[in-house]
Amino acid sequence: MTIRAVVAGVGHYLPDRIVPNSEFEATLDTSDDWIKSRSGIERRHIAAPGQTTSDMATRAARAALDDAGLESTDIDAIILATSTADFTFPSAATMVQAELGMTKGFAFDVQAVCAGFIYALTNANALIVSGQAKRVLVIGAETFSRIIDWNDRSTCVLFGDGAGALILESAEGDGTVADRGILSADLNSDGRFRDILYVDGGVSTQTTGFLRMEGREVFRHAVEKLASTATTALEKIGLTGADVDWVVPHQANIRIIAGTAKKLGLPMERVVVTVQDHGNTSAASIPLALSVGKQRGQIKTGDLVVTEAIGGGLAWGAVALRW
Ligand SMILES: CC(C)(COP(=O)(O)OP(=O)(O)OC[C@H]1O[C@@H](n2cnc3c(N)ncnc32)[C@H](O)[C@@H]1OP(=O)(O)O)[C@@H](O)C(=O)NCCC(=O)NCCS
Repeated sequence: MTIRAVVAGVGHYLPDRIVPNSEFEATLDTSDDWIKSRSGIERRHIAAPGQTTSDMATRAARAALDDAGLESTDIDAIILATSTADFTFPSAATMVQAELGMTKGFAFDVQAVCAGFIYALTNANALIVSGQAKRVLVIGAETFSRIIDWNDRSTCVLFGDGAGALILESAEGDGTVADRGILSADLNSDGRFRDILYVDGGVSTQTTGFLRMEGREVFRHAVEKLASTATTALEKIGLTGADVDWVVPHQANIRIIAGTAKKLGLPMERVVVTVQDHGNTSAASIPLALSVGKQRGQIKTGDLVVTEAIGGGLAWGAVALRW
């Protein structure tokens, strides 16, 4: 008997305001055509003034609880992946815990930027497999609009706000790749690359700062490292790209998504793509894509899903799971 962390529900939340590419044409030397052709992004959602990461995370969590037919009191732990928490402390996760009316268990944030949801899923899996928790609410939520330099055309057109949530619950499996649940994970980071993607402020510098990025360099690392980590996660369970029903990649740039799929030997028909509608929502992008992919009827029970992401750090990783 093997304990598996199985998906019990998924949900998401997107703020009401949709900003099409054309809106940037009024203030910046850019065009809808440039943004679409270089990134695949057509629009993004932006949080309302005063709307916070924990607010969006709570809404996504409620949608996932509804999808699972569970109450917040059924949850043992919350892990929230974010780089844009409401406050320095307490964690956004404990704020969500309170909003959901959950007074037992524990909650904490994970910060691995765009790879945050992969790190959070891996931690949730470890808590379940070790018997520490039976049901874990794993959330990715971001308000990157607050750390974007809106005068920098090379970054501001790429990001958006949103939240997604997944509930993992303990179940007995046979210990084979036919089991539902998380089957393998691969995590990596390399702090030598901090200068190619970072925010130039923070608590100890007493500024909020803005996102800074060397896009071409990040792009180069992304395709190579994402294909490599997804392959490693599959190799750990004796599988290859040919066994995968759906790749659910971090949604940063359609050219990175397509380049990675090609390296994995997978056609785009087996890739869940939401980047055109959401832009890059950092740690929220994978749970958003999982939720939308399920809603569209793409991801079904029993499908083998591989998720992969890379972001500031650099930090990157992949999780293979059977839905
Ligand atoms: C940012 C990115 C879309 C730029 O695309 P690119 O094809 O690499 O373009 P370059 O950076 O080479 O820039 C080409 C030109 O377009 C210009 N440019 C940049 N942003 C522009 C914009 N919004 N509109 C018009 N022109 C723009 C650049 O200034 C550059 O001009 P120059 O040649 O005169 O210097 C691409 O590098 C990328 O997606 N990188 C990865 C980013 C990412 O996903 N990061 C998050 C990972 S978590």
